[in-house]
Amino acid sequence: MQKLRMATSPLSQLLLSLILLQNFHHSHSFSLSVENHNEDVIVSSPNATFTAGFYPVGENAFCFAIWYTRPPRTVVWMANRDQPVNGKRSTLSLLGTGNLELTDAGQFIVWSTNTATPSKQNPRLHLYDTGNLVLIAILDNSEDHVLWQSFDFPTDTLLPNQPLSKSTNLVSSRSGTNYSSGHYKLFFDFENVLRLMYQGPRVSSVYWPYAWLQSNNFGNGNGRSTFNDSRVVVLDDFGKLVSSDNFTFTTIDSGTVVLRRRLTLDHDGNARVYSIRDGEDNWKVTGIFRPQPCFIHGICGPNSYCSNKPTTGRTCSCLPGYRWVDSQDWSQGCESSFQLWCNNTEKESHFLRLPEFDFYGYDYGYYPNHTYEQCVNLCLELCECKGFQHSFSEKSDSTSQCYLKTQLLNGHHSPGFKGSFSLRLPLSHDYDEKAILNNDNGLVCEGNSGGAKELERPYVEEKENGSVKFMLWFATALGGIEIVCFFLVWCFLFRNNADKQAYVLAAETGFRKFSYSELKQATKGFSQEIGRGAGGIVYKGVLSDDQVVAIKRLHEVVNQGESEFLAEVSIIGRLNHMNLIGMLGYCAEGKYRLLVYEYMENGSLAQNLSSSSNVLDWNKRYNIALGTARGLAYLHEECLEWVLHCDIKPQNILLDSDYQPKVADFGLSKLLNRNNLDNSTFSRIRGTRGYMAPEWVFNLPITSKVDVYSYGIVVLEMITGRSPTTGVQITELEAKSPHHGRLVTWVREKRKKGSEMGSSWVDQIVDPALGSDYDMNKMEMLATMALECVEEEKDVRPSMSHVAERLQSHEHDS
Ligand SMILES: *[C@@H]1O[C@H](CO)[C@@H](O)[C@H](O)[C@H]1NC(C)=O
Ligand SMILES: *[C@@H]1O[C@H](CO)[C@@H](O)[C@H](O)[C@H]1NC(C)=O
Ligand SMILES: *[C@@H]1O[C@H](CO)[C@@H](O)[C@H](O)[C@H]1NC(C)=O
Ligand SMILES: *[C@@H]1O[C@H](CO)[C@@H](O)[C@H](O)[C@H]1NC(C)=O
Ligand SMILES: *[C@@H]1O[C@H](CO)[C@@H](O)[C@H](O)[C@H]1NC(C)=O
Ligand SMILES: *[C@@H]1O[C@H](CO)[C@@H](O)[C@H](O)[C@H]1NC(C)=O
Repeated sequence: MQKLRMATSPLSQLLLSLILLQNFHHSHSFSLSVENHNEDVIVSSPNATFTAGFYPVGENAFCFAIWYTRPPRTVVWMANRDQPVNGKRSTLSLLGTGNLELTDAGQFIVWSTNTATPSKQNPRLHLYDTGNLVLIAILDNSEDHVLWQSFDFPTDTLLPNQPLSKSTNLVSSRSGTNYSSGHYKLFFDFENVLRLMYQGPRVSSVYWPYAWLQSNNFGNGNGRSTFNDSRVVVLDDFGKLVSSDNFTFTTIDSGTVVLRRRLTLDHDGNARVYSIRDGEDNWKVTGIFRPQPCFIHGICGPNSYCSNKPTTGRTCSCLPGYRWVDSQDWSQGCESSFQLWCNNTEKESHFLRLPEFDFYGYDYGYYPNHTYEQCVNLCLELCECKGFQHSFSEKSDSTSQCYLKTQLLNGHHSPGFKGSFSLRLPLSHDYDEKAILNNDNGLVCEGNSGGAKELERPYVEEKENGSVKFMLWFATALGGIEIVCFFLVWCFLFRNNADKQAYVLAAETGFRKFSYSELKQATKGFSQEIGRGAGGIVYKGVLSDDQVVAIKRLHEVVNQGESEFLAEVSIIGRLNHMNLIGMLGYCAEGKYRLLVYEYMENGSLAQNLSSSSNVLDWNKRYNIALGTARGLAYLHEECLEWVLHCDIKPQNILLDSDYQPKVADFGLSKLLNRNNLDNSTFSRIRGTRGYMAPEWVFNLPITSKVDVYSYGIVVLEMITGRSPTTGVQITELEAKSPHHGRLVTWVREKRKKGSEMGSSWVDQIVDPALGSDYDMNKMEMLATMALECVEEEKDVRPSMSHVAERLQSHEHDS
């Protein structure tokens, strides 16, 4: 039998039982009412991990949902996400016939399981600790029979051991605050392949797996098989995801059973695995399906393109000659501000070449072996042609291809993308290509979450008999008081924008605001300094609930209001990855600005490398290199909030009790230097001598590759045990490339000598403290990769996600 947690007051308990009795009279075997949404809930057994009940989704709007009992109260399932019910007289009833019904405002059935029990016995509803809500019929031979279970009808989340199968799919929610069905879908297609699809109001398209990786009917290039028609994917307790099409995936923390784990198709079109470990109280990303945000379709509407910018993150911009349909909503895209006539077109059109641009899908025609000029002519002949993609493949056949487009969708501008797009424009318009690519007419992808709206719900009075009427009146009055209280709390929390942000964030992550006196007390008057980093000193502290934290006191605050500060801090607060330090809260009082972080038992990588006790063995070092790469890849390529670190060094890589690395101090470049931030570059000279990429010195554009460079130096330092700023003899080589640090030059020289003499170079650079206790091949791979990361030319350096993938693929070699 389910546990129904009642209100504690005897009066309301009596009332509730009376109402339940009354319901029973109407052949309900059990019911929950929206007025009592705080107490009238089903709690999972035996461990009370999940709770099911009415969940507020807006003003006077509720959904019947399952969520984690302990904060953060993350919703994992919803019955009626697209049709929330009224806060008055809505009920969930289990009928004696075996049907579970959700009734809106005492009147309309908005959702039901459509089930019937085969026997005369009353059915039961049970919420298990797996998160599965199960409707059970008891058969005449007293066996249990599952009539319905929530695991068969997922919304946007899969829990461990909950299969996604042929007949089900995940649909993202609309936004971070709106739970109704969004535009992204994870499903098995008719070819038995697990895919991600964008289903917009006008168009739909599959964006994962990458179409160009598919080769033929016999399985495809990305390792997916089309043969197994069982079509099932499941994430297990240990963080391993296995799909019947041979797609497998392991989370960063795989192999361990964590407190909570879930796979969610997020509202931005990316599927992520999150977990909370013992002793943590915050979701951390431990796996991502698609790391490249601009490849997700539908991000930017028609005639616009997506790009990832260092200062703002994922951004949508209109193509030259086009303007926003609705400048508040980028998903509607852009419309042309010109008209092309189809008569005499040759004289009226010209083509603007946009290098590194792609508009995926919706080809009007594909013409292999066509030169650029032939492609131009094809486009001119076609009245609706808006442009074409022309690519030249350097393979043996040396052919170039032409793709004509009459619709410009799924556009992205990705540095390094081999291919260019030629946009058709009328002659009268004259555009400067350079200006186009640098202009900042873009809209940043996030931040359109919108406030809660009141939902209109018809509410019809019913005729009732006296006693029921009285009791209902009384119960409604009680419920009413509760709702008033709820709104008071709501209004209080949503008093101003800053508070609202904090509230939404708190609800999502447990992030909170601290008072200065609280933090002063926690640090015993800022007595125990544990580090110094960008813009502040870090102290150890113990909060009133005995949680040990690291508190950073920022010293140089540029006249920044609290809400501005909070806006920036909440961006950092939302970055929850296992390899990024978690921010627990902040304090902004008067001139004080403090940040509260997780405390890392094993201090920084710098301390560990310099310590004489030599605690970092080879496996730990490899794992630190891998984890750091993952954390940075997440920072660089994750859409939600895109932040350059700009100061990677061993002091900023912290180690937790298991020596898992966590990157610290990210996002502060933005926080501390808002005013110096211009459109394309950060204020000059940031970072630390020895770890700084040449771009800083030569005044070149700053991209995520500056972090790749610093990362490469850190890995070389871990391998050799030598600091990039001291030690090693200066050589002639260094004189030739004055920027390059001694460490890089030294390692390169060793490698050069090694390859000339045909001997191993790796054992000559390895930190003597490691002895011979390491894997030679893996070490060589790591060292080679680190050298690639520190190439002078930024485009030659690999991306951080590429590094992470390579390290992961060798993780278990030995
Ligand atoms: C419930 O908690 C106990 C003790 O913490 C644990 O051993 C057990 O596995 C848990 N059961 C479920 C279903 O989570
Ligand atoms: C959520 O989004 C849907 C679709 O845009 C909209 O109809 C609904 O009103 C929104 N709900 C809330 C609570 O804002
Ligand atoms: C699926 O994966 C297994 C193990 O990695 C491999 O042996 C098998 O060939 C794959 N099947 C297909 C059809 O790719
Ligand atoms: C099909 O996939 C299922 C689930 O992954 C697996 O158990 C089964 O062995 C696969 N069948 C074949 C023929 O590979
Ligand atoms: C093309 O046709 C449009 C209307 O159909 C007309 O207004 C325009 O003048 C024509 N252009 C030329 C160059 O003939
Ligand atoms: C491409 O066209 C050229 C000449 O137009 C021809 O010689 C060549 O064989 C063609 N290549 C292919 C692969 O069709």
